[in-house]
Amino acid sequence: MAMAACLVLPTHATSNDSIEAVFGPYLSTGTEIAASTDANFSNVVTARWTTWESPAWTGAIKPKTEVDVQTIVQIAAANNISFLATNGGHGAGIGYSSNSGIDINLDNLNSVSVDVANNEMTIGAGAKIQDVTQPLYDAGKSVPHGNQGCVGMIGATLGAGIGIGTGILGIGIDSLKSVRLVTASGDLVTASETSSPDLFWALRGAGANFGIVTSATFELQDQTNDGNVVSATYVYPGSANMSVFELYQSFDDDLPPELSLQMGISYNSTTMSSQLLLSYYYFGPQADVQHYLDAAAALDPITSSISILTQPALYASLGQGECTTGSPISGGTVGLGKTDVPTLQSVFAELVAFNVANPGTDVSQSLFQRYNNQRTLQAPYSGTVYPWRDIKTFWLHLNFYFDPALEGATEDLTKSLRAKLQATSGFEIPHIYLNYAFGDEGPAAWWSAANLPRLRALKAQWDPEERFGKANPIY
Ligand SMILES: Cc1cc2nc3c(=O)[nH]c(=O)nc-3n(C[C@H](O)[C@H](O)[C@H](O)COP(=O)(O)OP(=O)(O)OC[C@H]3O[C@@H](n4cnc5c(N)ncnc54)[C@H](O)[C@@H]3O)c2cc1C
Ligand SMILES: *[C@@H]1O[C@H](CO)[C@@H](O)[C@H](O)[C@H]1NC(C)=O
Ligand SMILES: *[C@@H]1O[C@H](CO)[C@@H](O)[C@H](O)[C@H]1NC(C)=O
Ligand SMILES: *[C@@H]1O[C@H](CO)[C@@H](O)[C@H](O)[C@H]1NC(C)=O
Ligand SMILES: *[C@@H]1O[C@H](CO)[C@@H](O)[C@H](O)[C@H]1NC(C)=O
Ligand SMILES: *[C@@H]1O[C@H](CO)[C@@H](O)[C@H](O)[C@H]1NC(C)=O
Repeated sequence: MAMAACLVLPTHATSNDSIEAVFGPYLSTGTEIAASTDANFSNVVTARWTTWESPAWTGAIKPKTEVDVQTIVQIAAANNISFLATNGGHGAGIGYSSNSGIDINLDNLNSVSVDVANNEMTIGAGAKIQDVTQPLYDAGKSVPHGNQGCVGMIGATLGAGIGIGTGILGIGIDSLKSVRLVTASGDLVTASETSSPDLFWALRGAGANFGIVTSATFELQDQTNDGNVVSATYVYPGSANMSVFELYQSFDDDLPPELSLQMGISYNSTTMSSQLLLSYYYFGPQADVQHYLDAAAALDPITSSISILTQPALYASLGQGECTTGSPISGGTVGLGKTDVPTLQSVFAELVAFNVANPGTDVSQSLFQRYNNQRTLQAPYSGTVYPWRDIKTFWLHLNFYFDPALEGATEDLTKSLRAKLQATSGFEIPHIYLNYAFGDEGPAAWWSAANLPRLRALKAQWDPEERFGKANPIY
């Protein structure tokens, strides 16, 4: 149904016209529309994981079809109505509050098709990570994706797409074969290495700035170890920090591709004590990772557990709690090329002191995600705008500031910890993974200064009115 082609779209909508009147007649049956003042608005808008720096919506539309997405963009553009396309609602950062107007909720476009004969998987814009894990497992195949099930599959990929499978599979953008994209003019284009290759370069790392991807096709890889993963977790008292940090550091130059690590540092307000967490994920037989697990067990954990899970079960467990929406959570990141133990000790001390001084934020915590990057480094830097293939550890800081008065203080904490980690990261220029960004770092930190001239030229070509990418703008 291509109604947009035969009906003349409205061009003089005013703020007095209802969103239903402006868009409704031109969209397919089943498309849901609500103004933010309508009682049913919450059924149509994408629920956001965090309330921090939220967009100020005037309404929301949940399109049924790809053509609807084109029509919405065309009407919005013709009437100077701003919008943001959303799916998993896990986008966060200070730039999100620069968005206003209409939320285009892509949730209905949630198809997943694994095509083993052609060795590819095609997903719609509404697919979440939890929608792909079982079909891939059933086919005996893998595609790189993030860890948490309720995150949007395409949203995560457009920033690069990292996760515990990065060591064996590489990052998401390196498995992306092509996308269908609704551009700022409402046109539908296919981008791949052979079709609009410049645009495809920019989509792979800065995708949210160039349009709305309605579907994406990924190359399949074989599943390792029959789809089973060893998952081991160790919790330590804060006093063990030196030995835990030294153990973590030992992985700087010795991490098998099949092994991923997450180290958590936090303060437990129940026990009123600092604690550390080490999680190991091994995409191979337990016997092969046992000596690493023995080293973790030798540091006297308070609790430990080892289990072997299928990939869908593992990702379901990693997603526990993360699908909850509407909590006040701020965060930030910096990429590390090496581990500096004194810096980690200083970061841990500052984080714990902050939690002790501000009981309303008792879960201000940091994760250090160590993914083997050999596979990531095999793809050429020149192939994608994502520039930070040399990151070894992704630091991800999260503050659950249930006392709203502490929002500013948690932001200051994030920046302070980030500066400490940056100073000994081994990188002169901050390496900021866009998907985890606080939002103040700027385009050179997200895409590298060297990439900016080409990126700006493509932005001027494809989105001259800057309708997309307000959360992390190219300037
Ligand atoms: C708890 C949590 C865990 C996370 N884990 C990981 C992880 O393991 N690996 C990782 O790489 N990242 C991870 N992220 C970051 C996440 O990938 C990004 O925040 C991503 O942008 C979220 O996409 P979304 O669709 O869920 O969010 P939304 O808020 O719906 O969208 C976020 C941004 O992506 C854009 N976008 C979404 N879909 C499309 C589309 N189809 N076309 C164009 N633009 C689109 C939106 O316009 C917006 O700018 C995590 C984030 C959280 C909060
Ligand atoms: C909206 O309606 C009010 C009240 O009828 C009117 O005064 C105003 O001019 C209208 N605004 C626009 C942009 O048409
Ligand atoms: C929401 O309510 C408004 C006003 O009653 C109505 O026009 C609209 O169709 C409703 N939308 C949905 C998706 O139910
Ligand atoms: C479009 O809207 C923005 C605010 O959303 C406003 O600043 C700008 O002047 C408008 N442009 C036109 C051409 O009306
Ligand atoms: C780190 O370990 C040292 C030595 O055990 C201890 O003094 C310090 O309090 C620990 N840091 C934290 C935040 O627990
Ligand atoms: C804090 O400690 C309590 C008591 O040991 C435990 O039940 C709880 O799971 C801990 N919280 C976290 C976040 O680890």
